[in-house]
Amino acid sequence: MNRRELIQRVLLGGAVLVMVPSVLESCTKIPNGNAGSNSGTPAGGTTITSNKIDLDITLADNTALNSAGGSRFVESIIVINTGGGKFSALSNICTHAGCTVYYNSGSGKIECPCHGSVFTTSGSVIQGPATSPLRSYPTTLIGNILTITL
Ligand code: FES
Repeated sequence: MNRRELIQRVLLGGAVLVMVPSVLESCTKIPNGNAGSNSGTPAGGTTITSNKIDLDITLADNTALNSAGGSRFVESIIVINTGGGKFSALSNICTHAGCTVYYNSGSGKIECPCHGSVFTTSGSVIQGPATSPLRSYPTTLIGNILTITL
C-alpha cells in the first residue's frame, strides 16, 4: 500500500464513521402513518409511548373506529372495532412467513396476500398455510381513549 492508498482508506473510514450513526438512527424509528416519531403526541389524536398507544377515537384519523367493522392501522398494528364496544388490535405480520396482512372490511377477515392465509378479527387462523394466530394486543376503552397495550 502506497501513501495515496493509505490516505484514501483513512478518508473512506472516516466517512463511514460519520454516516453509520445517522443510518442506524433512521432504522430505529417506528413507521407511523400519522407522524415520524415513536413517542409523544403525533397529529390525529394518537399518542405513542414505548408500552402503549392511545387513540382518541373522536378525532379525525381515528373516527373509523367509532363504527363496528371500522379499522385503523397504526404502528404495524391493525385496530378493528369488532362491535359491541369491543376492539381488536393485531400485528400486521403474518405468522406464516412474515408478509404484511390487511383487514378486508368487506369480508370482515384479515388476509395475507402472499400465500392466502386468512385470520379472524381476533387473530385466529381460519385458513392456512399459517398455523399460529396473529399477535394480539390488549385494548381498553376509557371515555374517548382507546388504549392498546404493547
Ligand atoms: S406469509 Fe402469509 S400466508 Fe404466507
